[in-house]
Amino acid sequence: MPLPRAAIRTALSPTPVTGGGGLPPTLQALSTSCPHLGCSVDFDAGSSKFKCPCHRSAFDLTGKVEAGPAPRPMDSLDVEEKNGLVSIRFQRFHQGKPTKEPV
Ligand code: FES
Repeated sequence: MPLPRAAIRTALSPTPVTGGGGLPPTLQALSTSCPHLGCSVDFDAGSSKFKCPCHRSAFDLTGKVEAGPAPRPMDSLDVEEKNGLVSIRFQRFHQGKPTKEPV
């Protein structure tokens, strides 16, 4: 089921990730639940980074950890684009672990 526009905006990276090796850009959805302890990660337009206000983890546009105690990158979510609609499968993952494990 397609998500409301506001929900998609909070989950999608604001800039499409450029495909490597000449591949076209692709959509990427990241969970805004911080992989450290689950606070809500915000997008900071000034630095073009995702930042967690709780313990100052910071992530680049692909979700890679750049700073802070987060033990792994932001969790990617399954994305499907069909007939002009984007669907994102929201899922929760255990917090505080170095690997992405579904709850
Ligand atoms: S909950 Fe995000 S850095 Fe701790």
